[in-house]
Amino acid sequence: MITLGIETSCDETAVALVEESRVLSSEVSSSVHLHSRYGGVVPEIASRFHVEYIYPVLEKALRGAGCCIGDIGLVAVTQGPGLPGSLLVGIAFAKSISFAGEIPLLGVNHLHAHILSCFLGREREFGPDTFPFVGMVVSGGHTSIFYCRSIKDFSIIGRTKDDAVGEAFDKVAKLLGLGYPGGPVVEERAANFKGKDDIGFPRALLENRSDLDFSFSGIKTAVMYHWRSSPGTEAEKDKVCYSFQEAIIDVLDQKVTRATRFTGAGKLAAGGGVMNNDKLRQRLDSRCAEEGVELYLPPKEYCADNAAMVAALGERLYNEGELSDLFLNSRPGGF
Ligand code: KG4
Ligand code: ZN
Repeated sequence: MITLGIETSCDETAVALVEESRVLSSEVSSSVHLHSRYGGVVPEIASRFHVEYIYPVLEKALRGAGCCIGDIGLVAVTQGPGLPGSLLVGIAFAKSISFAGEIPLLGVNHLHAHILSCFLGREREFGPDTFPFVGMVVSGGHTSIFYCRSIKDFSIIGRTKDDAVGEAFDKVAKLLGLGYPGGPVVEERAANFKGKDDIGFPRALLENRSDLDFSFSGIKTAVMYHWRSSPGTEAEKDKVCYSFQEAIIDVLDQKVTRATRFTGAGKLAAGGGVMNNDKLRQRLDSRCAEEGVELYLPPKEYCADNAAMVAALGERLYNEGELSDLFLNSRPGGF
């Protein structure tokens, strides 16, 4: 069976075709360039972009897979969490295809789909025996840890109390005048820093606590105060980026290690746009090797928002009997 995946929860218009967990085609058109001057995603602009691009992206995905609407056995669409207007476009589009083609429809959770992205390209390794495992989503809108018992049962066991980790990268980049999105440029500037003296930004919610929650708003303020009282040179920018990135990686590393120890799960799957960060990938890799935990990371092309992960999750849920109908509504706050 071929599953059509549709993803429009934020600023990426994405369509993919997946067959038995194998990606046949995956197309993404991003409106990120339209948001860069504002330093963050403008919801209205994102929604209008989805309306304009969703059909051409579908056509491209169908061409790439060499198939047509008639070949599709399931339409899977991101139901939430996400921006209300953006979600609406993808869901309305998915419903139209489902109705016109008399194809089953299924709404899926965007965060769960990010976790499934870790298994794209490793389909054979993923099955009922993979469970239970710890899942982490680190993106521009979310920082959450899940305990995944089965494909239908993901419980949230830790989440950010304020900013998402990617948002912190974006805000720090904005503060330093480095543009948007901030993650890639902060990583690049951090790599320029060859010194050893870390500024020592706060590692929030680590000391004297045993929970799995995060907070990333304090570090932004710490960076701001430091930057204001610093010489403001390009070399100082590199050092700030390095120190900021180290603090963030320490927190993610320690919290997720706590989660694998606490649950006793011998596996970790970590997805989302921030997993593009090589330093973070390396840290999780060495930590998991040390802890005897098997690590699953998404191929880089599937870290950021994409529809292959939506189709892959939809297909597996459908095989377990899950199904939506044409009353499907968006769930911007998640579920
Ligand atoms: O998953 P994603 O595309 O969108 C959401 O669902 O939010 O994640 C986008 C986020 C942005 O905040 C971006 O700055 C961050 O991922 N990001 C990175 C890197 N590449 C993208 N953060 C750190 N290091 C990177 N290399
Ligand atoms: Zn996402």
